[in-house]
Amino acid sequence: MAHPKLAAALAVALTLAGAASAQDYPTRQITMVVPFSAGGPTDTVARLVAERMSGDLGQQIVVENVGGAGGTLGAGQVAKAAPDGYTLLLQHIGMATSATLYRKLAYDPLTAFDYVGLVTEVPMVVVARKDFEPADFKGFTAYVKENADKLTLANAGIGSASHLCGMLLMQALQAQLVTVPYKGTGPAMTDLLGGQTDIMCDQTTNTTQQIKGGTIKAYATTTAERLPLFPDLPTATEDGLPALQVGIWHGIYTPAGTAPEINERLSQSLQKALADPGVTKAMADLGTAPEPAENATPAALKAKLGAEIARWQPVIESAGVYAD
Ligand code: MLT
Repeated sequence: MAHPKLAAALAVALTLAGAASAQDYPTRQITMVVPFSAGGPTDTVARLVAERMSGDLGQQIVVENVGGAGGTLGAGQVAKAAPDGYTLLLQHIGMATSATLYRKLAYDPLTAFDYVGLVTEVPMVVVARKDFEPADFKGFTAYVKENADKLTLANAGIGSASHLCGMLLMQALQAQLVTVPYKGTGPAMTDLLGGQTDIMCDQTTNTTQQIKGGTIKAYATTTAERLPLFPDLPTATEDGLPALQVGIWHGIYTPAGTAPEINERLSQSLQKALADPGVTKAMADLGTAPEPAENATPAALKAKLGAEIARWQPVIESAGVYAD
């Protein structure tokens, strides 16, 4: 049994040490876990902000891709990491949908993490291999209804953004396609470009270049309004599928128990990155935009996650789609 005075002194020493480390933070390289393969949309967003945050923080932020299980493997790795500010997670809407999709998650999305802030909300586009037959979205929906069991729909695993959009598409069309899961839509895009799969619903951060180059076919966006980048591309809403409206918001998290001063320091750095004209331009060229500073905060991300878990739970339960 430790002497009470010794235990008290130790507690004070540990508190002071923690405060000191928060004050000096960061003093070494930081890891930002992206829970999908390199070269995909999440990876693109992460590398864009990590580069600018590194400059502001004075320490390198190294992106580590940990794919699998729709992003929940990577998220679980960060949930178990030391809460010292040197392991971050950049994850998107999948943080909210996996709370319902995975009934045996290795972590509780609402208690296993602390919050840095929202990063960007990325539109999605329904795309297909470049020789896919239908000429427009109305023809696409009719064709998919007619041939569903012969068509492959690529996604990045249950819990991914592409899975969510695919689920909404199949639910709206009452059609069950053959789903083909990947560890990210980076590798999924490679197969779509090669004609190995037929259809995918993916973020503009991963489809813009291919749409512009004509190497895939774009049918409709999942936005309320048409995209400035693709003014001739209809929205699914205007073409009769209002249920296919979803924006893929992204947030940065730290393991629960990270010092609030560290989360705040990271939030300030994120806000500076998002205000960088180079980031705004790069995101605009990819069909998206930075979140405003007031959203790049711990409180905003915490509120968003709670609201989105509540929003998607009934939608997922009505679809009856679960990972386990
Ligand atoms: C990715 O980064 O590969 C995508 O976010 C996967 C997905 O969520 O569809």
